[in-house]
Amino acid sequence: MRTLRNSILLSTFDHPLKSLMVSSASPSEGKTTIAVHLAIAHAQQKHKTLLIDGDLRRPGVHTKLGLTATTGLATALMNGLCWQDKVIQPAGVPGLYVLPAGLSSRRCSELIGANLKQILAQAEAEYDLVIVDAPPILGFPEPLQMAAAVDGVVMVAVAGETNRKAIELALSTLRRAAGQRVGAGAE
Ligand SMILES: Nc1ncnc2c1ncn2[C@@H]1O[C@H](COP(=O)(O)OP(=O)(O)OP(=O)(O)O)[C@@H](O)[C@H]1O
Ligand SMILES: [Mg+2]
Repeated sequence: MRTLRNSILLSTFDHPLKSLMVSSASPSEGKTTIAVHLAIAHAQQKHKTLLIDGDLRRPGVHTKLGLTATTGLATALMNGLCWQDKVIQPAGVPGLYVLPAGLSSRRCSELIGANLKQILAQAEAEYDLVIVDAPPILGFPEPLQMAAAVDGVVMVAVAGETNRKAIELALSTLRRAAGQRVGAGAE
């Protein structure tokens, strides 16, 4: 995970990334696991790191970190975007801050695409790096809008399993929608 962190962040040394989104072509490819551990690895370097659970369809960041979170991004999206007071700090990882998904609905999923840019503009002023766990690219509209709001996208795939065509389709869709890609990681 530290190698992944370094290969992503050091390769962009000239233009430091302030925000990253983690996605994949299809569900269950390891997005949340990578997003959580990348955030921990970044925080361990004494960088103030915000991890946002932007997968409002299948949120999982809070479970992986052992957090109970009934309010979060979804609540903020529904109630006028005061997201800062929904941020929590997991015990044992100094520098790591988490904006959990909270209780979401279909409407929240529609709102995140349009609102992420504004949230990131505020968050990037306060944190060294913002990492967003996102829904899979294929089949959902909001990750494409989210990709356009972040500095880079990390695509996760399962080595030996993920369909090559699905990855190609996801990457070409992403390039069309957002125009950038940081790299692909195999689970
Ligand atoms: N590197 C890995 N090696 C083995 N198993 C893994 C790895 N990364 C994740 N897993 C397992 O794969 C499953 C899916 O992982 P995860 O929840 O991170 O995927 P996801 O892409 O976020 O899924 P979803 O689409 O549901 O959000 C989990 O059971 C997780 O423990
Ligand atoms: Mg997930």
